[in-house]
Amino acid sequence: MCGIVGYVGKKNTVEFLLNGLKELEYRGYDSAGIAVLNEKNSDSNIEVYKALGKLVNLEEKTSEAIKNDFNLGIGHTRWATHGKPTELNAHPHLGEYSYVVHNGIIENYKELKDELMQKGHKFVSQTDTEVIVHLFENFNNQLNDPTIAFKKTIENLEGAFSILLISKADPSKIFFFKHGSPLIVAKGKDEGEALFASSDAPLIGLAGDVVYLEDGVGGVVTNGEIEFFSDDYKWSTLPASKQYAQKDGYRFFMEKEIHEQSTVVVDTMMGRIKDNAINFDEIDESIIEGINEIKICACGTSYHAGLTASYLFERLSKVKCNVEIASEFRYKEPLLTKDTLFIVISQSGETADTLEALKMAKEAGLKTLVVCNVDNSSMTRTADFSILTRAGIEKGVASTKAFTTQTVVLWMLALYFAKAKNTISENKMQEELHALREVPKSLVVYDFIHEKCKRLSKRYLHGHGFFFIGRDVFYPLALEGALKLKEISYLHAEGYPAGEMKHGPIALADPELFTIALMPENLLYDKIKSNVEELSARDSTICTISPIPFELSDDYIRTNKFDHYMLEFFEMLVAVQLLSMEISVRLGNDVDMPRNLAKSVTVE
Ligand code: G6P
Repeated sequence: MCGIVGYVGKKNTVEFLLNGLKELEYRGYDSAGIAVLNEKNSDSNIEVYKALGKLVNLEEKTSEAIKNDFNLGIGHTRWATHGKPTELNAHPHLGEYSYVVHNGIIENYKELKDELMQKGHKFVSQTDTEVIVHLFENFNNQLNDPTIAFKKTIENLEGAFSILLISKADPSKIFFFKHGSPLIVAKGKDEGEALFASSDAPLIGLAGDVVYLEDGVGGVVTNGEIEFFSDDYKWSTLPASKQYAQKDGYRFFMEKEIHEQSTVVVDTMMGRIKDNAINFDEIDESIIEGINEIKICACGTSYHAGLTASYLFERLSKVKCNVEIASEFRYKEPLLTKDTLFIVISQSGETADTLEALKMAKEAGLKTLVVCNVDNSSMTRTADFSILTRAGIEKGVASTKAFTTQTVVLWMLALYFAKAKNTISENKMQEELHALREVPKSLVVYDFIHEKCKRLSKRYLHGHGFFFIGRDVFYPLALEGALKLKEISYLHAEGYPAGEMKHGPIALADPELFTIALMPENLLYDKIKSNVEELSARDSTICTISPIPFELSDDYIRTNKFDHYMLEFFEMLVAVQLLSMEISVRLGNDVDMPRNLAKSVTVE
């Protein structure tokens, strides 16, 4: 996800900004930029430097600037969500005389951009961010008061926006505002010094007291003096360790990413649920014209998201859908017909087998779409259409938030197709949209669930294997739960369709066989209950995950009640992720970098 830094003071501004951005590198980025000025220069020139790719490229460009005496600046690392990763799309964004850096997504950018263009503003990038700086200048041109112009800008923005803005209209100031993405303002150690960053790491060792801004809080720094627009802020101290700060205080990146799920899905959905319908800027309804079948190809966790989606495409969009593991698909001499929409799913966009499958489909003349977390990856460059999942960088090798955001995108896509094909009633559509809006709640890591997983983990460190079982979309979730456990605990685990256990695997049932049963209230509860009864009768050790207690379970992880099975799906996902993580911790394994695995597999 994007990173922000800002500085006012007497130290070397360029150096602070570059070092700060380096501290944010772990968050992932595809381009970076800084804007700096010296307010004492009579013409108060703002200098801006941007570079694609790694920060060394930006360092090279600023090697002359670093010698100069700037006393104020803003910087940014960008992870593309609107517009390709290019130098022009990198932040800071410029109007006529001001610059802005921004984390978040401006939902109403199209409307604002149209209005501003009519008034003569010229846009150069494809980003949503650029409207902020033009809107600011639009107000400032009318009012000749940068502070009021900034406040009015904020009032007119919708979506998520954490911002730093500087302007030649008043070169002594940095304006700031937080809404959605994190932003911290800090007093420097020297007199007249103020610092900004989107997370702790760049500030540690350099800052005194800090304010972790709450949503809706903003202000202005003038000559190093920090002033807030409202009273909703409180000063606190920074943590001492940078490593701890990078993980936002969590023990592992995986744990941090599990916790992030409920916020990143907000970004995933932002601007995509509009006027009571699904909207994707990246595609239009013609994508489904002439299509009688969807084929999905992916690997690993992404394959599980695809399998989940296949139920939703058939159920909601009434399109035949089949899913294949990319490495199998490639060599089976698949029959490809042009009435098939070919969808690949990939966190990295680089997985060799998935990429090759995509190329095969393209060569066969199929319409292709990638659901991906990395813009400008090999897959987004190859496919006809790309939809970004906006999960931000995922560091833990065991994928968590990538899966969640993929599944949300695919669910939205199923509804989008359903509307285009007229296969869904208005009532049903509204029910589904209501459920989608509740997804962030279902992904909250509740202490009572985490504590239960921690406690239970000690009972699951041995035995001769795990079966995760579920039905319908809970079957791919069972596969995903088993994969998580395998990846980081190195214990044998299998995901199985609950109804299929009796056709063979039940022969393994005994007290040393652990069954993790996913028992949602809103989907086939009685059916899965019978399957669990069959296993219990053969003395398997049963752990149920369900909002409903079940008398035959040996262990029970209680989930919250929801009125849609997909919300139960996401809550149970969090539970299986936590359970795997806690088992891995007890076994003393490396949670973030499990043995033998790689984050991105670019070989066959
Ligand atoms: C590797 C990773 C998995 C991932 C799979 C597919 O095996 O360890 O976590 O699910 O690749 O990766 P992709 O980037 O294509 O989603």
